Amino acid sequence: MLATLCLVSFSFPILWAQTLISCSYKSLCQKALLSGNDIVLHCDHKAALWYFSSILGENIFLLNSWPNIKKLPGGSLQLTKPQPSQAGLFRCEDSANALIVEYEIDFQDATTLHITHKDLGQKPLQNETLNLGGEVFIFTHWEPWQDCNRCEEPGERKRLGYCYVEEPPEKPMPCWLYLRDEKVQYSRLRPEMQVERCLVPCDPGKEIKQPFFIYDIYQLGKLTNHMWLTCPLASIYR
Ligand SMILES: *[C@@H]1O[C@H](CO)[C@@H](O)[C@H](O)[C@H]1NC(C)=O
Repeated sequence: MLATLCLVSFSFPILWAQTLISCSYKSLCQKALLSGNDIVLHCDHKAALWYFSSILGENIFLLNSWPNIKKLPGGSLQLTKPQPSQAGLFRCEDSANALIVEYEIDFQDATTLHITHKDLGQKPLQNETLNLGGEVFIFTHWEPWQDCNRCEEPGERKRLGYCYVEEPPEKPMPCWLYLRDEKVQYSRLRPEMQVERCLVPCDPGKEIKQPFFIYDIYQLGKLTNHMWLTCPLASIYR
């Protein structure tokens, strides 16, 4: 019984825990995400081939050598701790090189995340205009609030915000998909996270759908000035 339990608790939440990015058949989806947080790009074709071209615009090449990517059995592409330098075009093709789906992804640098708590009076970044040859408008595109971390008692919830640029009449786009190889050092160009209080009723349907986790205890060795603690299966996206 114990053996089965371990096996199940190990394999099931790992699949469940993936943040899946999908886009409809033969379309191009543009998206901002955060670096350092695992994602899966969906492509529903067992013999899928994935190609990549960075935002610097080099020639597209077959993805098979990055240590942090893995093609899943169904065809989707798993990226473990993607880096800002891995921003670019991810293209999924079938074996006859016909397009199935493509993603243009801006992995915004999570180490520059601007974090504010709404109920502590901390202010998110202001909208700004920036002169890059012409005037462009920089703002944060907020995702919806995520679930409250408690129910029937006071809790907190968060939302992520991505740096976007708008140059009317064009549609806004993620900052680094717009800037590409333009070297601008400007402190407004960063992703954000906002936290606020919440109080929600418990939803029994939701409670039973929670994954199960394995708890483990590690003895920390000699304390050093810098230490990195990783919470297994945690994701900033939920
Ligand atoms: C900033 O710009 C966004 C997008 O145009 C807009 O929704 C938001 O209200 C603006 N915020 C402020 C404080 O002007």
